Amino acid sequence: MPTFETVNLTSEKSAVVIEIGSTYTKCGFAGENAPRCIVASKAKIQDSGEEKLITSYKDEEDLYNLLLHFIHYLYFKHLLVSPKDRRVVIVESVLCPTLFRETLAKVLFHHYEVLSLLFVPSHLVSLYTLGASTAVVVDMGYKETVVIPVYEGFTVLKAWQAQPLAGELVERELLKKLMADEGSGDSASHPKEESIDEGVVENIKVRTCFVTTLERSQKIEEIVHPPPVDYSLNGDKFIKIDGKTRESAYESMFIMDDDEISVPTMILDALLKCPVDTRKALAENLLIIGGTSMALGMRSRLLSELKNLINSPKYVDKLPLKSFKFHNPPAKGNFVSWLGGAIVGATEMVVSRSLTKDVYQKQKCLPDWVNLAFNNNYELKHKYFSG
Ligand SMILES: Nc1ncnc2c1ncn2[C@@H]1O[C@H](COP(=O)(O)OP(=O)(O)OP(=O)(O)O)[C@@H](O)[C@H]1O
Ligand SMILES: [Mg+2]
Repeated sequence: MPTFETVNLTSEKSAVVIEIGSTYTKCGFAGENAPRCIVASKAKIQDSGEEKLITSYKDEEDLYNLLLHFIHYLYFKHLLVSPKDRRVVIVESVLCPTLFRETLAKVLFHHYEVLSLLFVPSHLVSLYTLGASTAVVVDMGYKETVVIPVYEGFTVLKAWQAQPLAGELVERELLKKLMADEGSGDSASHPKEESIDEGVVENIKVRTCFVTTLERSQKIEEIVHPPPVDYSLNGDKFIKIDGKTRESAYESMFIMDDDEISVPTMILDALLKCPVDTRKALAENLLIIGGTSMALGMRSRLLSELKNLINSPKYVDKLPLKSFKFHNPPAKGNFVSWLGGAIVGATEMVVSRSLTKDVYQKQKCLPDWVNLAFNNNYELKHKYFSG
């Protein structure tokens, strides 16, 4: 696992480290402790001037165009360096579609002529920020929460869990509450649906809402709620966010659906799928990352939910675990995995493991663990990686 002795062995210019999330892209230089920018993952379409989410692509050509404009924006508005001079480290999710990574490589090599490209899995490099080799990585981003256990440096891939229980769901539920009469409080301040756009809902969520405790959530109808907040829309109109809305906004992540799935059950289900002798160590090494993990009260609520669920009939016999412990990563939740990429990018791994421009132009192929050619045949794998 992490070999810190090799940090900064490379004497060349620092590599560019990019993590493209479904809403936010983190971008900066290897060896630095925070990204230079965290920007919306949106590209401006030149003809219409309209901004489009990168992940909303229709086909390969559409994606190629979006990435072309977006990478230009990152290099020439934020990084201010020439793409040709530097290596690139891409922090990617293991669930990233092959089409996306291949198109990104095409844009970076063909159009921007970067020196080399290294794809690193976000859950593994997050562990580099801790110097640990065992953890259950829980990434709560915008579209989904992904749980992946890593034991002694090896990903327990069969145990991964992913569900759309993250920022987007919280915002959707919050918008519903704001629209409902009882949620919006006094009717004079009741806004029209179109006046609350996505950005406003996100702002209300981050600035006024929090994750309540398990005890309070169980009697949410009876308790005295915190005071309401007046949120200003365009300076003159106000929208009243009442205490109950503020306190119950994140409940959708913890309420079990018809399949009895919530964020805490995802963690326990992932542990259940891991080998028996690894479960205790994994439960005592939980790493919670992603923007949604930064919500006030999230970690303490998760801990009490886990302690409560472990005694429920579904888990009590199968998972005899006593304690759960969380790691404290050295960065804000939303860029822990980017920081891991920045650490890897400052080691000699970026030289020895990267795919260089020349090799890519010859092979026209990107090494991928899901491709059997790179998993089975040592010689083939060796041929693609070295050079
Ligand atoms: N301080 C905060 N409190 C609560 N939520 C936050 C905070 N900061 C960011 N978020 C939320 O985190 C989400 C974005 O997180 P992140 O940057 O990890 O997502 P992403 O990587 O773009 O998405 P994904 O991982 O799903 O592809 C947004 O929904 C945002 O509103
Ligand atoms: Mg993410």
